[in-house]
Amino acid sequence: EQRPAEYGVGEDLVLVSNRQPYRHRYERDDGGDREEIAVDCPTGGLTAGLDPVMQRLDGTWVAWGDGDADFAVADEDDRVTVPPEDPEYTLQRVSLSESQVRGYYDGYANQALWPLCHTDTCRVRFEAEHWERYREVNERFADAVVDHAESGGTVWFQDYHFALAPRLVRAREPDAFLMQFYHIPWPAPDVFAICPQRSALLEGLLGNDLLGFHLPRYGARFMECVDEHLDGATVDWTGGEVHYDGGVTTVRAFPLGVDADEIRQHAEDDGVFWTRFRHAHGIDEDVTVALGVDRLDYTKGIPPRLEMLEHLFERRPDLRGEFTYVQKASETRERIPAYQELRAEVEDAVDRLNERYGTDDWQPVVYTTEMFDYPDLCSLYRHSDLGLVSPLRDGMNLVAKEYVAAQVEDDGVLLLSRLAGAYEELGEGAVELDPYDPVAGAEAIERALAMDEWERRSRMRALRHRVHDGDLAHWLDDVLETAGTVRETRREAP
Ligand code: G6P
Repeated sequence: EQRPAEYGVGEDLVLVSNRQPYRHRYERDDGGDREEIAVDCPTGGLTAGLDPVMQRLDGTWVAWGDGDADFAVADEDDRVTVPPEDPEYTLQRVSLSESQVRGYYDGYANQALWPLCHTDTCRVRFEAEHWERYREVNERFADAVVDHAESGGTVWFQDYHFALAPRLVRAREPDAFLMQFYHIPWPAPDVFAICPQRSALLEGLLGNDLLGFHLPRYGARFMECVDEHLDGATVDWTGGEVHYDGGVTTVRAFPLGVDADEIRQHAEDDGVFWTRFRHAHGIDEDVTVALGVDRLDYTKGIPPRLEMLEHLFERRPDLRGEFTYVQKASETRERIPAYQELRAEVEDAVDRLNERYGTDDWQPVVYTTEMFDYPDLCSLYRHSDLGLVSPLRDGMNLVAKEYVAAQVEDDGVLLLSRLAGAYEELGEGAVELDPYDPVAGAEAIERALAMDEWERRSRMRALRHRVHDGDLAHWLDDVLETAGTVRETRREAP
């Protein structure tokens, strides 16, 4: 295993993300003091993947200390060492006021940047108050970074929550190596044009030495936006670099992957979960199961997926009683009206389908918002005959990769939206879904159901190879190696 220091990014990395890797819960004792009662550990996802890296690097992770409404959490800026049982690195929490959370997280990050970057311009809301809080929170995070960064150290920002922090840190730590990975798409220049804060955002991101996106296309669009919307910047198209205000930002693509080995292991170890799940939801053993796993986000294309199923049951009455769609949904960003509306829309559509086609002993759609442990989720993936992933637009979509990694018998079929970043990597092995054409979607599901075993297995084997070759460890190697190289070149530059 390569030691991170060998990548040339140093031992004292400061990682910055909105979400924290560990969540401590506290209760007040009789004297009003805080008493720790539990720590939630990361399962799956990026925070889980970055945690071992931080453990090796012994650095600092700066994150929002988001709390649990039922418990007293960080009421001052908190610094703890984690993991709790064997402390390896510092977790520096930034606690935010209610108005900061509303403006920065519910507001600018998730009602301006999220829909803007997903090219959903009708949902975009730019409010002065949101922008103010977004700026303020980026400043708070920049302060926390500066407190922890060693001179000449590396800072790695994650995602769209921190578009301004890099330039703020750059101003105070000119020798630091700053990098950022942007986990969502970057929009075309004429979409980005609607944003009143467009030049401030570009300027902020150009505080980085290295800026990563999932796909080359997103990086290219970012550079087009710089070219069009930021005075004084020069784009070097062949080198993939932007020169601005005396600095250079290298723009690269690093398609994020999943921990394929861990998922395979969980899927192989599979215990009683699946049997219990089937029993609890009345799914007969011989019923064909299709699965969707999504945050309840309007970009995920859940309503069109349910519409595809409606067409399917209409065209194929013989599938009634034989085929069940399981929708595992997790609530997200619940205070935002668009998310509340989406949730109501999905629940109505599920009820409609179940009322219309369901029988006494069979339900066409099983809808659950239960939280599963990661091993149980892997078991659910493994036993589902079809994986349905139909985003209207998605930077990458890791559910598609998780589903593939869990197919230890090579016998599932992945149906994947052509508009997910993952489709560009996995394309051929998957069956294409068009979320904007639910009739074609129903036909695609029929095709998947009719696929012979040979074709299913050869497609899935090809997919598994790709997911394995582009797994999370490869992504980390790729990002950190590139960071090391870019850093070296900058040092050598006159
Ligand atoms: C996307 C973003 C992540 C974010 C996740 C969950 O994948 O790129 O940064 O953490 O959604 O959303 P939430 O708002 O709950 O953190």
